[in-house]
Amino acid sequence: MRRGSIVQLVTLGVVIGAAATLVALLVPWLPPNAAEERDGIDLVFWFTTAICIAIFALVGAVIVYSVIKFRARPDDDADGPPIHGHTGLEIVWTTVPAILVTAIAVISGIVLVQNDRAGTNHLNVNVTARQFAWTFSYPGQGNLASAQLRLPVGRSVELHLRALDVIHSFWVPEFGQKQDALPGQDTKVVITPTKVGTYPVICTELCGLGHALMRTSAIVMQPAAFNAWVKRQQTALKAPPGEAGKSVFAANGCASCHTLQAAGASGKVGPDLDKLPAYAKQAGKPLEDFVRESIVDPNAYVQPGFPKGVMPPFATLPKDQLDALVMFLIDSSKGGK
Ligand code: CUA
Repeated sequence: MRRGSIVQLVTLGVVIGAAATLVALLVPWLPPNAAEERDGIDLVFWFTTAICIAIFALVGAVIVYSVIKFRARPDDDADGPPIHGHTGLEIVWTTVPAILVTAIAVISGIVLVQNDRAGTNHLNVNVTARQFAWTFSYPGQGNLASAQLRLPVGRSVELHLRALDVIHSFWVPEFGQKQDALPGQDTKVVITPTKVGTYPVICTELCGLGHALMRTSAIVMQPAAFNAWVKRQQTALKAPPGEAGKSVFAANGCASCHTLQAAGASGKVGPDLDKLPAYAKQAGKPLEDFVRESIVDPNAYVQPGFPKGVMPPFATLPKDQLDALVMFLIDSSKGGK
């Protein structure tokens, strides 16, 4: 190869690599960084991106150089020269990618192990994924439930994930790390929020028709505000059953599917809960038994006109919360008659 060709190839590579680098650096591809674990995830991301840019520059330079240098003359109808493989080249283009993917795997492994350290003073939150909703409960705070993930800033939290039906995946882009939620097997992910704010919780595993709607919010609060929220929720649960039940109704996202005047809910997916007494009569069951069964085992009786198998069973609801919810539904549906 002549020295002139090498200079041309290198120049092309530098130009293409510089252009790709500018696109990578100048476009704000990533969401704001709001968790300690995000740093490691970004490191892996940029390490991989740098490799991609280098390979892109190399391949781009060779292609552009070949297109210009070896293009056929307009009157050239001859076949190209017969070429057989090049063993040295094949060894190189097998070895180099093998080294690169191994390096990415090693760095990813180190980052994941580091991100898994929750420290001794961490908060535990149980995350339940079902088609198509997230619910969160706080075992250290009297098992209070919430439809949003509320976290204090600056404290590590260990999220224990579980799915009730199919595979889902928990992701807050600002926090960085993703984690699958599996049926029948607990998984966990550690997050240490660093910025107060509200961020989207997204399901990133195609889990059915409502996958795109399986979203809620992660609300990162000052520790004092978080403690105040915990107190308020605990007080609400200890309130008279009607009040406590209203909190349980709100915390479990019932309003997204059901109408219930007393809760200001106007969902249209499932049966109108203001009509519970009439439904119980149709089902031929005492009202309280009917309401309880419909929460824990919704498919035992499905009101005609509504699709079967849509409502997930809320069998994991703690007993005091279930009792409060049942009382609330009975009281408010009688009031709505
Ligand atoms: Cu759950 Cu997608």
